[in-house]
Amino acid sequence: MSIHFGSKKVTKAVFPVAGFGTRFLPATKASPKEMLNVVDKPLIQYAVDEAVAAGITELIFVTGRSKRAIEDHFDKAYELEAALEAKDKQDLLRLVRSVKPDNVDCVYIRQAEPLGLGHAVLCAARVVGDDPFAVILADDLLDGKPPVLSQMLKVYDEREGSVIAVEKIDPAKSGSYGIVSGDEVSKGIYHLNGIVEKPKPADAPSDLAVVGRYVLSAKIFDHIRNVKPGAGGEIQLTDAIAALLKEEPVFAYQYDGVRYDCGSKLGYLKASVDFALRHQEVGEEFAEYLRSWSLK
Ligand code: G1P
Repeated sequence: MSIHFGSKKVTKAVFPVAGFGTRFLPATKASPKEMLNVVDKPLIQYAVDEAVAAGITELIFVTGRSKRAIEDHFDKAYELEAALEAKDKQDLLRLVRSVKPDNVDCVYIRQAEPLGLGHAVLCAARVVGDDPFAVILADDLLDGKPPVLSQMLKVYDEREGSVIAVEKIDPAKSGSYGIVSGDEVSKGIYHLNGIVEKPKPADAPSDLAVVGRYVLSAKIFDHIRNVKPGAGGEIQLTDAIAALLKEEPVFAYQYDGVRYDCGSKLGYLKASVDFALRHQEVGEEFAEYLRSWSLK
């Protein structure tokens, strides 16, 4: 799907992948958390597939330490392809080549210091330029039909403003999310008048929490440059959005789909089970295994 805001088309997506992934140590000691697999695909590949399905052609990875695995994953694997070719393993060859379609480019930017999500997004400013762009947090694995970023771009097209994906949460958990407030302008779409990062339940303006998908106007960069360190002492994207919505329309969109919080062990395990159960190759046998296991 292509999208225009004025004359501008959303073709760029930023993937902040510089986090330490401390909740998954030691798995993430030498490898980024975005390379954790759900069945047979790393989290970052699910995120990239969602972006490509929405018409994104420039993938901007903001990386930190241990970035190599991500670069290698989206690079051409000559030796592997030659070996598969020699053995005429056409299916596997197609699979390996589908990791990054030829019309899609990757750009890697190093975030020298982990100063927060807002700072990570700001690192992409020069590459993004004046264009509206998407931000995807790969540890929020979203399963939607159509994919959630495509749903958001439709809202963006119709509303002509930035769009942030939200979902209803248990109010007791507000301290883990950005929480929005706004007026519902049509079913599941809110014109925002406020957003706060990780408020205590008593201070939360609603039970609508930001999940890791954003479509943002490039004006956001000016606001990120101006915000002071916020929650957790970090430069927060949420605080820049709070400033942006004072001068441009920003909408929250309650997406249609299921979220797996793969930044937590439990969410990651749930994703692994659900995706395994519907996996073409192992789904049926895995379901049988779970049935036998539950009788033990
Ligand atoms: C980030 C954002 C937060 C958002 C969350 C979604 O927080 O700062 O507003 O609700 O992602 O996953 P983090 O989980 O990186 O602390």
